[in-house]
Amino acid sequence: PFSPILAPSLLAGDHAHLSISAHLAAEAGAPWLHLDIMDGHFVPNLTFGPEVLAALRRAGLKTFFDTHLMLAEPHKYVEAFAKAGANLISIHIEPAYDHRATLARIRELGCQCGIVLNPGTPASAIAPFVDLVDLVLVMTVQPGFGGQPFRADMLPKIREIDGWRQSRGLKFRLEVDGGIDLATAAQCRAAGTDTFVAGTSFFKAPDRAAYARAMAALA
Ligand code: DX5
Ligand code: ZN
Repeated sequence: PFSPILAPSLLAGDHAHLSISAHLAAEAGAPWLHLDIMDGHFVPNLTFGPEVLAALRRAGLKTFFDTHLMLAEPHKYVEAFAKAGANLISIHIEPAYDHRATLARIRELGCQCGIVLNPGTPASAIAPFVDLVDLVLVMTVQPGFGGQPFRADMLPKIREIDGWRQSRGLKFRLEVDGGIDLATAAQCRAAGTDTFVAGTSFFKAPDRAAYARAMAALA
């Protein structure tokens, strides 16, 4: 099994000082930074675009950029995010576009690729893609907003996807996003997860370095 990785979500940072928030996460010891890209169509909210990633790189951020595209037409933007400094680009299964070609394109652009599924989407929807990806992201809230409660009813889906990974010897990371704190991360870890997005709980933690150490120490 992969060792745990913490990916603080910049959505919960200070949007007037994104670089400061991103550096806080890196200095706390978080190896990844999770970047939530919303288009007001696939989800009812707006965030930021590729120029923010590029600006964070120019500001000296060296962390792994875990880019979560919540877009109705992600295929139109993968190149811009790759050029802006994304290391991994994840795309949702729910909208209609050529998922296979888009995953291949992300790889061609030199990034890792991930596939994401919403709480209402069954694991079976991503089954044809699990051998093509570096990461599967199971949403543990309906995407669009930070600060929502963790959906424990997603744990069976996590176990199911981890089961495929083990039985087929696949190497993708299994990530969770939404309502993650040290307690819900431990439940997800027990179900097979290795990569943990945390927005609110990370940025509100009184000691972020201790939080990052506790996440890294999840058995
Ligand atoms: C939700 C985003 C999440 C969000 C998580 O649409 O995909 O990454 O930032 O925030 P918390 O950790 O506060 O639930
Ligand atoms: Zn996210």
